[in-house]
Amino acid sequence: MAEKPHLLQVAQVPPFLLERLQAEFTIHDFVNPADPDRLLAEVAPRIRGMIAGGTKGPNANLINALPNLEIISSFSVGFDATDVVAAQSRGVIVTHTPEVLTGDVADLAMTFILMVTRRIGESERFLRRGTWLERRMDLGTTVRGKRLGILGLGRIGKAVARRAEAFGLHIQYHDIKPMGDLTYRSYPTLMDLAKASDILLVTCEGGEANRGLVNAAVLDALGPDGFIVNTARGPIIDQTAMVKALQKGRIAGAALDVFDGEPEVPAALTAMENVVLTPHIASSTHETRRAMADLVYDNLNAHFNGKPVLTPVPPQI
Ligand code: 8YV
Repeated sequence: MAEKPHLLQVAQVPPFLLERLQAEFTIHDFVNPADPDRLLAEVAPRIRGMIAGGTKGPNANLINALPNLEIISSFSVGFDATDVVAAQSRGVIVTHTPEVLTGDVADLAMTFILMVTRRIGESERFLRRGTWLERRMDLGTTVRGKRLGILGLGRIGKAVARRAEAFGLHIQYHDIKPMGDLTYRSYPTLMDLAKASDILLVTCEGGEANRGLVNAAVLDALGPDGFIVNTARGPIIDQTAMVKALQKGRIAGAALDVFDGEPEVPAALTAMENVVLTPHIASSTHETRRAMADLVYDNLNAHFNGKPVLTPVPPQI
Protein backbone atom coordinates (compact mmCIF):
# COMPACT_ATOMS: atom_id res chain seq x y z
CA MET A 1 0.00 0.00 0.00
CA ALA A 2 1.28 3.46 -0.91
CA GLU A 3 2.31 5.69 1.96
CA LYS A 4 -0.37 8.09 3.13
CA PRO A 5 0.41 11.70 2.08
CA HIS A 6 1.74 13.83 4.94
CA LEU A 7 -0.13 16.98 5.98
CA LEU A 8 0.99 19.77 8.29
CA GLN A 9 -1.88 21.09 10.41
CA VAL A 10 -1.36 24.75 11.38
CA ALA A 11 -4.88 25.63 12.60
CA GLN A 12 -7.45 24.02 14.86
CA VAL A 13 -10.17 22.17 12.97
CA PRO A 14 -13.12 20.16 14.33
CA PRO A 15 -12.31 16.64 15.60
CA PHE A 16 -14.74 15.08 13.11
CA LEU A 17 -12.67 16.52 10.25
CA LEU A 18 -9.38 15.35 11.76
CA GLU A 19 -10.75 11.84 12.24
CA ARG A 20 -11.84 11.68 8.63
CA LEU A 21 -8.51 13.00 7.37
CA GLN A 22 -6.49 10.65 9.59
CA ALA A 23 -7.89 7.68 7.68
CA GLU A 24 -6.14 8.86 4.54
CA PHE A 25 -3.36 11.18 5.60
CA THR A 26 -0.57 11.31 8.15
CA ILE A 27 -1.15 14.54 10.04
CA HIS A 28 1.59 16.44 11.85
CA ASP A 29 0.26 18.82 14.50
CA PHE A 30 1.86 22.24 14.00
CA VAL A 31 -0.90 24.24 15.72
CA ASN A 32 1.15 25.12 18.82
CA PRO A 33 4.42 23.23 18.37
CA ALA A 34 6.71 23.20 21.40
CA ASP A 35 9.76 23.20 19.16
CA PRO A 36 8.73 24.26 15.63
CA ASP A 37 12.24 24.14 14.17
CA ARG A 38 12.83 20.62 15.40
CA LEU A 39 9.48 19.39 14.08
CA LEU A 40 10.10 21.04 10.71
CA ALA A 41 13.63 19.62 10.45
CA GLU A 42 12.07 16.22 10.98
CA VAL A 43 9.07 16.36 8.66
CA ALA A 44 9.49 19.24 6.15
CA PRO A 45 10.54 17.19 3.09
CA ARG A 46 7.60 14.80 3.57
CA ILE A 47 4.89 17.46 3.78
CA ARG A 48 2.70 17.58 0.67
CA GLY A 49 -0.33 19.36 2.07
CA MET A 50 -1.39 21.76 4.80
CA ILE A 51 -4.54 22.34 6.82
CA ALA A 52 -5.01 26.05 7.58
CA GLY A 53 -7.79 28.21 9.04
CA GLY A 54 -9.37 31.63 8.83
CA THR A 55 -7.23 33.22 11.52
CA LYS A 56 -4.21 30.91 11.39
CA GLY A 57 -2.37 30.02 8.22
CA PRO A 58 1.16 29.68 6.88
CA ASN A 59 3.35 32.69 6.10
CA ALA A 60 5.86 32.74 3.23
CA ASN A 61 8.68 31.40 5.45
CA LEU A 62 6.74 28.31 6.41
CA ILE A 63 5.49 27.73 2.85
CA ASN A 64 9.02 28.02 1.51
CA ALA A 65 10.38 25.69 4.20
CA LEU A 66 8.30 22.89 2.68
CA PRO A 67 9.95 21.91 -0.63
CA ASN A 68 7.32 19.33 -1.62
CA LEU A 69 4.22 21.27 -0.66
CA GLU A 70 1.41 20.92 -3.23
CA ILE A 71 -1.76 22.16 -1.55
CA ILE A 72 -3.04 24.26 1.37
CA SER A 73 -6.65 23.59 2.32
CA SER A 74 -8.14 26.28 4.55
CA PHE A 75 -11.08 25.66 6.84
CA SER A 76 -12.47 29.14 6.10
CA VAL A 77 -13.76 31.32 3.31
CA GLY A 78 -11.31 34.10 4.19
CA PHE A 79 -7.76 33.30 3.16
CA ASP A 80 -5.95 36.32 4.59
CA ALA A 81 -4.15 34.25 7.24
CA THR A 82 -2.36 32.28 4.51
CA ASP A 83 0.24 33.96 2.30
CA VAL A 84 -1.60 33.02 -0.89
CA VAL A 85 0.79 34.96 -3.12
CA ALA A 86 3.79 33.05 -1.71
CA ALA A 87 1.93 29.77 -2.24
CA GLN A 88 0.59 30.46 -5.72
CA SER A 89 3.87 31.87 -6.99
CA ARG A 90 5.37 28.47 -6.18
CA GLY A 91 2.50 26.62 -7.85
CA VAL A 92 1.00 25.53 -4.53
CA ILE A 93 -2.81 25.26 -4.74
CA VAL A 94 -4.81 27.05 -2.03
CA THR A 95 -8.43 26.06 -1.37
CA HIS A 96 -11.07 27.65 0.87
CA THR A 97 -14.72 27.08 1.84
CA PRO A 98 -16.93 29.60 0.03
CA GLU A 99 -20.73 29.34 -0.40
CA VAL A 100 -21.37 26.80 2.36
CA LEU A 101 -21.09 29.39 5.15
CA THR A 102 -22.70 32.35 3.38
CA GLY A 103 -26.17 31.82 4.86
CA ASP A 104 -25.04 31.50 8.46
CA VAL A 105 -22.69 34.47 8.29
CA ALA A 106 -25.42 36.59 6.69
CA ASP A 107 -27.87 35.47 9.39
CA LEU A 108 -25.48 36.66 12.09
CA ALA A 109 -24.93 39.99 10.32
CA MET A 110 -28.70 40.54 10.09
CA THR A 111 -29.10 39.53 13.74
CA PHE A 112 -26.36 42.04 14.63
CA ILE A 113 -28.10 44.84 12.73
CA LEU A 114 -31.26 44.20 14.74
CA MET A 115 -29.47 43.62 18.04
CA VAL A 116 -27.42 46.78 18.00
CA THR A 117 -30.22 49.08 16.83
CA ARG A 118 -32.92 47.58 19.09
CA ARG A 119 -30.47 47.32 22.01
CA ILE A 120 -31.21 43.63 22.54
CA GLY A 121 -28.06 42.70 24.49
CA GLU A 122 -28.40 45.76 26.64
CA SER A 123 -32.09 45.03 27.28
CA GLU A 124 -31.31 41.49 28.33
CA ARG A 125 -28.65 42.66 30.77
CA PHE A 126 -31.12 45.28 32.04
CA LEU A 127 -33.71 42.60 32.81
CA ARG A 128 -31.24 40.10 34.31
CA ARG A 129 -29.87 42.81 36.60
CA GLY A 130 -33.38 43.53 37.89
CA THR A 131 -33.31 47.15 36.67
CA TRP A 132 -36.77 46.67 35.11
CA LEU A 133 -38.19 46.70 38.66
CA GLU A 134 -36.99 50.31 38.92
CA ARG A 135 -37.69 51.75 35.47
CA ARG A 136 -38.40 51.04 31.79
CA MET A 137 -35.61 50.30 29.33
CA ASP A 138 -34.54 53.25 27.12
CA LEU A 139 -35.76 53.32 23.51
CA GLY A 140 -34.05 51.69 20.53
CA THR A 141 -33.91 52.61 16.82
CA THR A 142 -36.18 51.32 14.02
CA VAL A 143 -34.35 49.66 11.12
CA ARG A 144 -37.24 50.11 8.67
CA GLY A 145 -36.45 52.91 6.23
CA LYS A 146 -32.82 53.20 7.35
CA ARG A 147 -29.87 53.00 4.96
CA LEU A 148 -27.58 49.99 5.17
CA GLY A 149 -24.16 50.63 3.64
CA ILE A 150 -22.34 47.42 2.75
CA LEU A 151 -18.57 47.50 2.44
CA GLY A 152 -17.76 44.62 0.11
CA LEU A 153 -20.71 43.28 -1.85
CA GLY A 154 -19.49 39.72 -2.33
CA ARG A 155 -21.44 36.53 -1.65
CA ILE A 156 -21.96 37.37 2.02
CA GLY A 157 -22.71 41.07 1.44
CA LYS A 158 -25.38 40.16 -1.13
CA ALA A 159 -26.92 37.57 1.19
CA VAL A 160 -27.20 40.19 3.95
CA ALA A 161 -28.67 42.67 1.46
CA ARG A 162 -31.47 40.21 0.61
CA ARG A 163 -32.29 39.71 4.27
CA ALA A 164 -32.08 43.42 5.07
CA GLU A 165 -34.45 44.29 2.20
CA ALA A 166 -37.09 42.14 3.88
CA PHE A 167 -36.70 44.33 6.99
CA GLY A 168 -37.30 47.49 4.94
CA LEU A 169 -33.70 48.70 4.88
CA HIS A 170 -32.41 50.60 1.84
CA ILE A 171 -29.29 48.93 0.48
CA GLN A 172 -26.21 50.68 -0.86
CA TYR A 173 -22.60 49.63 -1.12
CA HIS A 174 -18.99 50.29 -1.90
CA ASP A 175 -16.89 47.63 -3.59
CA ILE A 176 -13.67 47.59 -5.57
CA LYS A 177 -15.67 45.99 -8.38
CA PRO A 178 -18.65 47.99 -9.67
CA MET A 179 -21.72 45.74 -10.01
CA GLY A 180 -23.74 47.23 -12.79
CA ASP A 181 -26.38 44.50 -12.75
CA LEU A 182 -27.63 45.38 -9.27
CA THR A 183 -30.28 47.90 -8.32
CA TYR A 184 -28.40 48.85 -5.12
CA ARG A 185 -26.73 52.23 -5.22
CA SER A 186 -22.96 52.06 -5.52
CA TYR A 187 -20.77 54.72 -3.85
CA PRO A 188 -17.35 55.43 -5.37
CA THR A 189 -15.60 55.69 -2.01
CA LEU A 190 -16.05 54.23 1.44
CA MET A 191 -16.22 57.76 2.84
CA ASP A 192 -19.17 58.61 0.57
CA LEU A 193 -20.90 55.38 1.59
CA ALA A 194 -20.34 56.04 5.31
CA LYS A 195 -21.72 59.59 4.98
CA ALA A 196 -24.86 58.25 3.34
CA SER A 197 -25.44 55.30 5.73
CA ASP A 198 -27.19 54.74 9.05
CA ILE A 199 -25.60 51.32 9.48
CA LEU A 200 -22.24 50.38 7.97
CA LEU A 201 -21.67 46.65 7.51
CA VAL A 202 -18.14 45.36 6.93
CA THR A 203 -18.18 42.24 4.72
CA CYS A 204 -15.09 42.76 2.57
CA GLU A 205 -11.96 40.63 2.48
CA GLY A 206 -9.36 40.93 5.21
CA GLY A 207 -5.62 41.07 4.65
CA GLU A 208 -3.01 43.81 4.65
CA ALA A 209 -4.59 45.76 1.77
CA ASN A 210 -7.72 46.34 3.84
CA ARG A 211 -6.11 46.92 7.25
CA GLY A 212 -7.54 50.05 8.87
CA LEU A 213 -9.85 50.75 5.93
CA VAL A 214 -12.57 51.87 8.34
CA ASN A 215 -10.60 54.62 10.07
CA ALA A 216 -11.51 57.54 12.34
CA ALA A 217 -12.61 59.70 9.39
CA VAL A 218 -14.96 56.98 8.07
CA LEU A 219 -16.45 56.53 11.55
CA ASP A 220 -16.98 60.28 11.83
CA ALA A 221 -18.67 60.23 8.44
CA LEU A 222 -21.03 57.51 9.74
CA GLY A 223 -21.84 59.92 12.55
CA PRO A 224 -23.34 59.98 16.06
CA ASP A 225 -26.53 58.14 14.99
CA GLY A 226 -24.64 55.54 12.95
CA PHE A 227 -23.93 51.91 13.79
CA ILE A 228 -21.01 49.76 12.65
CA VAL A 229 -21.31 45.99 12.16
CA ASN A 230 -18.35 43.69 11.44
CA THR A 231 -18.57 40.00 10.54
CA ALA A 232 -15.49 39.98 8.30
CA ARG A 233 -12.08 40.56 9.89
CA GLY A 234 -11.17 42.67 12.92
CA PRO A 235 -8.22 44.60 11.46
CA ILE A 236 -10.39 46.08 8.66
CA ILE A 237 -11.59 48.54 11.31
CA ASP A 238 -9.05 50.70 13.14
CA GLN A 239 -10.02 49.27 16.52
CA THR A 240 -8.43 52.04 18.59
CA ALA A 241 -10.26 54.67 16.55
CA MET A 242 -13.53 52.73 16.90
CA VAL A 243 -13.21 52.44 20.67
CA LYS A 244 -12.58 56.20 20.89
CA ALA A 245 -15.51 56.99 18.59
CA LEU A 246 -17.80 54.81 20.73
CA GLN A 247 -16.58 56.32 24.00
CA LYS A 248 -17.03 59.86 22.72
CA GLY A 249 -20.48 59.14 21.20
CA ARG A 250 -19.19 59.93 17.71
CA ILE A 251 -20.95 56.71 16.58
CA ALA A 252 -24.04 55.20 18.21
CA GLY A 253 -23.03 51.57 18.58
CA ALA A 254 -21.19 48.56 17.22
CA ALA A 255 -21.83 44.85 16.71
CA LEU A 256 -18.66 42.82 16.28
CA ASP A 257 -17.90 39.16 15.70
CA VAL A 258 -14.22 39.72 14.89
CA PHE A 259 -11.43 41.72 16.52
CA ASP A 260 -7.94 42.94 15.84
CA GLY A 261 -5.84 40.64 18.02
CA GLU A 262 -8.64 38.15 18.77
CA PRO A 263 -9.26 36.23 20.98
CA GLU A 264 -8.11 39.23 23.04
CA VAL A 265 -10.89 41.84 23.16
CA PRO A 266 -10.18 45.31 24.59
CA ALA A 267 -11.71 45.82 28.04
CA ALA A 268 -12.95 49.19 26.76
CA LEU A 269 -15.26 47.32 24.37
CA THR A 270 -16.60 44.80 26.87
CA ALA A 271 -17.35 47.69 29.25
CA MET A 272 -19.69 49.49 26.83
CA GLU A 273 -23.45 48.81 26.81
CA ASN A 274 -24.00 49.90 23.19
CA VAL A 275 -21.67 47.23 21.81
CA VAL A 276 -22.68 43.68 20.81
CA LEU A 277 -19.77 41.22 21.01
CA THR A 278 -19.52 37.58 19.92
CA PRO A 279 -16.42 35.33 19.72
CA HIS A 280 -16.06 34.83 15.93
CA ILE A 281 -19.10 32.57 15.65
CA ALA A 282 -20.57 33.66 12.30
CA SER A 283 -20.06 30.23 10.69
CA SER A 284 -20.27 28.23 13.92
CA THR A 285 -23.26 26.00 13.41
CA HIS A 286 -23.23 22.20 13.33
CA GLU A 287 -24.53 22.23 9.77
CA THR A 288 -22.10 24.77 8.35
CA ARG A 289 -19.04 23.44 10.15
CA ARG A 290 -19.85 19.97 8.73
CA ALA A 291 -20.18 21.42 5.24
CA MET A 292 -16.91 23.36 5.62
CA ALA A 293 -15.18 20.21 6.89
CA ASP A 294 -16.52 18.24 3.92
CA LEU A 295 -15.07 20.82 1.54
CA VAL A 296 -11.65 20.77 3.22
CA TYR A 297 -11.67 16.98 2.99
CA ASP A 298 -13.02 16.87 -0.58
CA ASN A 299 -10.42 19.36 -1.82
CA LEU A 300 -7.53 17.36 -0.35
CA ASN A 301 -9.03 14.09 -1.49
CA ALA A 302 -9.56 15.35 -5.05
CA HIS A 303 -6.03 16.69 -5.28
CA PHE A 304 -4.33 13.55 -3.98
CA ASN A 305 -6.44 11.46 -6.35
CA GLY A 306 -5.28 13.47 -9.36
CA LYS A 307 -8.53 15.42 -9.75
CA PRO A 308 -9.06 19.19 -9.85
CA VAL A 309 -9.88 20.74 -6.48
CA LEU A 310 -13.45 21.95 -5.94
CA THR A 311 -12.97 25.42 -4.47
CA PRO A 312 -9.58 26.95 -5.28
CA VAL A 313 -8.74 30.45 -4.13
CA PRO A 314 -8.62 32.51 -7.36
CA PRO A 315 -5.16 33.66 -8.48
CA GLN A 316 -3.96 36.52 -6.26
CA ILE A 317 -0.79 37.26 -8.21
C1 8YV B 1 -13.57 30.21 10.11
C2 8YV B 1 -13.90 32.43 9.09
O1 8YV B 1 -14.31 29.10 10.28
O2 8YV B 1 -14.47 31.33 7.10
C3 8YV B 1 -13.85 32.24 7.62
O3 8YV B 1 -13.17 33.04 6.95
O4 8YV B 1 -13.48 33.40 9.60
C4 8YV B 1 -14.51 31.38 9.94
O5 8YV B 1 -15.68 30.97 9.37
C5 8YV B 1 -12.71 30.33 11.31
O6 8YV B 1 -11.83 31.37 11.14
C6 8YV B 1 -11.94 29.03 11.54
O7 8YV B 1 -11.02 28.79 10.52
